[in-house]
Amino acid sequence: MRLLKSLIILALAGGLGYLAFAFIWGFPSVEQRPITTDQATIDRGEYLTALGDCTSCHTAEDGASFAGGRFLETPFGGGLYSANITPSSQGIAGMTSAEFYQVLAFGADTVWRPIYPAMPYTSYHVVTRDDSDAIFAYLMSLDPVHAEVPANTLPFPYNIRLSLFGWNLLFADRSAFSPDPKRSDSWNRGAYLVTGLGHCGECHTPRNALGAMEPLERLIGAKLTGFEAPDITANGLTERGWTHKNLVTYFATGTGPQGTTFGEMHLAIKNSLSKANPEDQSAMASYLLNLDAAPSDVQETVEQETPPAFKAYDASAGRSLYLSNCSLCHGRDGRGVPSVMPALAGNSTVAQNDAVNLVLVVAWGLDASTDYGPMPSFADRLSDTEISDLVNYLRQSFSNLDLPLLQAADVRGTLNQN
Ligand code: HEC
Ligand code: HEC
Ligand code: HEC
Repeated sequence: MRLLKSLIILALAGGLGYLAFAFIWGFPSVEQRPITTDQATIDRGEYLTALGDCTSCHTAEDGASFAGGRFLETPFGGGLYSANITPSSQGIAGMTSAEFYQVLAFGADTVWRPIYPAMPYTSYHVVTRDDSDAIFAYLMSLDPVHAEVPANTLPFPYNIRLSLFGWNLLFADRSAFSPDPKRSDSWNRGAYLVTGLGHCGECHTPRNALGAMEPLERLIGAKLTGFEAPDITANGLTERGWTHKNLVTYFATGTGPQGTTFGEMHLAIKNSLSKANPEDQSAMASYLLNLDAAPSDVQETVEQETPPAFKAYDASAGRSLYLSNCSLCHGRDGRGVPSVMPALAGNSTVAQNDAVNLVLVVAWGLDASTDYGPMPSFADRLSDTEISDLVNYLRQSFSNLDLPLLQAADVRGTLNQN
């Protein structure tokens, strides 16, 4: 109810804000520029479009690339369909480069009608005008796809677009990207990509009740439906054993000594991060780990030689469950088989403070998401108590962090919520 009231107030504030903006101050004016058609710009635009992962949202399952229509569920009941962004009349054919930039930077369409922040302009606002123009040039060079996108199914009052004006006044950050002169070019490039086109915070940063990212909790990890997006701050990553080299490998291939990727992150790697060039992958890893330069390989090898400390933990129940259900694939000592089976010793999913992803992986299993095969589901084979014993055993023996123990009720809670 509180949420509903605040939403209605937002809607009214938004309406007034819109009128005030439109008639008193006018809208920020965005310079008109002709669409670039040279091949070099189109190629650069194709690369930037991949870094922005536009395709994951703007392509429906079995639909044509960029023709929109993917349904995005919201926590408010109902959801939104992504737009057709091919140059057809149902898409962006009528847009100018200024209007396109307006969408990316300000979240407003051709007549300054606000668009929903499910389109991550809350991150893309730092994208430079030149990069926006290159992306536009690439999209306009595609074959037009004539496909109508279904109408959104958001309930009242969320379906009042004008309320977004109030939302934007409160939450939308419109500042441009400003490089930090004290940091290296690589760190700054990483910062630009992670905060902007990469829109990592849209999943990895917690949101408030009205769906806006919490600015003071950047990248500390957030609950999504299903798998959680873990903490990817420098502290969180280092604590769980990530090094610069391993992060770059993970971006490029979706696997590495810290594990394999799955869920939403699998899409982000497949469609976006794996297409980034090695310099950009390295820059993003440097920024995330807060390093000015990639450490030399020698230094990294020394770091990786420290194996996780195996702690004394009375886990005979968990240990025997592990040996009878998991060791055949992951190995008795949890070390896996390189390039075939992920190691659980030193695995980042095992080491996450919140065990949600670990519980879900065991219960649901995983589709074959990388070069690795699928992982079977154990929901029908293990009870809640067995899963909690097993998870406690994994967390106590295969990570050197002090992780909280789980009860059967925690496992049930996690399974019921997801
Ligand atoms: C997380 C999902 C998501 C991602 C990623 C995403 N979009 Fe969107 N986009 C949407 C949704 C949803 C809408 C429709 C919003 C609405 O109805 O208000 C939209 C709308 C748009 C529109 C407005 C179209 C119109 O006709 O008004 C453009 C242009 C656009 N997106 C371009 C892009 C580009 C370029 C990228 C990559 C740099 C991108 N989008 C990435 C979800 C996404
Ligand atoms: C038939 C072989 C097989 C068995 C049995 C198996 N796994 Fe897996 N497991 C896999 C494969 C393959 C993957 C990688 C899946 C992917 O990402 O595509 C995986 C992934 C995982 C992950 C995610 C690792 C990461 O990198 O984030 C965890 C955790 C895990 N398994 C735990 C277990 C536990 C606990 C058991 C026993 C209850 C078990 N597995 C049994 C094959 C198996
Ligand atoms: C659409 C949501 C989404 C976006 C966007 C996203 N992530 Fe993730 N990310 C996840 C989820 C969910 C997981 C957990 C699954 C896994 O480990 O593969 C994850 C896992 C990760 C992991 C592995 C952490 C671990 O401990 O295993 C890293 C590193 C990571 N993301 C980095 C990034 C970076 C960098 C970006 C931006 C370029 C990004 N993510 C964008 C959802 C997302």
